[in-house]
Amino acid sequence: MTVAGVAPATRQRRQIAVLPGDGIGPEIMAAACEVLSALGDFEVVEHSIGGASIDASGSALTPAVLAACRESDAVLLGAVGGPKWDSTDPDATRPEQGLLGLRKGMGLFANLRPVRPTAALLDASPLRRERIEGTDLLVVRELTGGIYFGERGRRGEVAFDTCSYSVAEIERIAQIAFRFARRLVTSVDKANVLETSRLWRETVERVAGEHPQIELEHMLVDNAAMQLIARPTRFDVILTENLFGDILSDEAAMLTGSIGMLPSASIGVGGPGLFEPVHGSAPDIVGTHRANPLAMFGSVALMLRYGLGAQALAARLESAIERALADGLRTADIGGAASTEDATKAVLASL
Ligand code: IPM
Ligand code: MG
Repeated sequence: MTVAGVAPATRQRRQIAVLPGDGIGPEIMAAACEVLSALGDFEVVEHSIGGASIDASGSALTPAVLAACRESDAVLLGAVGGPKWDSTDPDATRPEQGLLGLRKGMGLFANLRPVRPTAALLDASPLRRERIEGTDLLVVRELTGGIYFGERGRRGEVAFDTCSYSVAEIERIAQIAFRFARRLVTSVDKANVLETSRLWRETVERVAGEHPQIELEHMLVDNAAMQLIARPTRFDVILTENLFGDILSDEAAMLTGSIGMLPSASIGVGGPGLFEPVHGSAPDIVGTHRANPLAMFGSVALMLRYGLGAQALAARLESAIERALADGLRTADIGGAASTEDATKAVLASL
């Protein structure tokens, strides 16, 4: 009943809400559950979300599932979405509404996406090794505001999405960025065009005043997209709003060789966190056993560290992933032939 290696205060059976979702979600989640049970005695309770939930109940996230997630100690999610539910009908229920509803409903305003290319994969990136070696950055993405949650709709031949941010929303995400930064916060915006960006810039400046030991710079998002490729090692923490963070984190994933490598943690004010890979449901490879479960495993590690206070277990899992890669583990996305199951076995063996 105890979790080995963690502080006494956390020695109880922690309950994890597991949401496999769609596409490869259930495949990588099954792998994650195997890894989790090798790490300790966790109570895993499965719920449906996204397209799977639409099929079962007509809603991408039912109030019962949201309530169960809120009552858990942490939420682990696979992926949502797929061609089956794709539609341009503005009134259609979409799988993504489940994920967005969960983030909003749990107050998870901060999304952390660490980008740290593994030594063993320095040659798996489309970028040259010299360029990415030494990259160790964290994207801090605002997750419950901006254009994702603004008023939207259609008026005749016109469609609109609105982006708005309040000072309070910007302040709290900026505080998270400064808390995680070791030397530099790069605040990414489009202040030469957008009013929300100008408010963002002025608010981040003010928050920076409380953290004199950390340097702050502002960067326009188009330039940031270029700098991420040109000089990724210059970054420490990239602080940005919801949509820019979505785009830049996919771009940053390629520094690690594949989007199949990037984990994420979403945290808020107290309450359980949500941990999910950055990649999507990859409908094109469902059932082929080619899904790379490492981003999912990395998300389990982030859950252990940030969601359950089990730092030692998190480190153990992360080094098992590193070791498996050093020993030659390569799934298809990083140029190998290992299946999801092979990858899971390799990481379990390294544990
Ligand atoms: C992500 C995903 C989601 C997002 C989608 C599935 C709604 O792309 O987590 O990055 O845009 O936030
Ligand atoms: Mg995305």
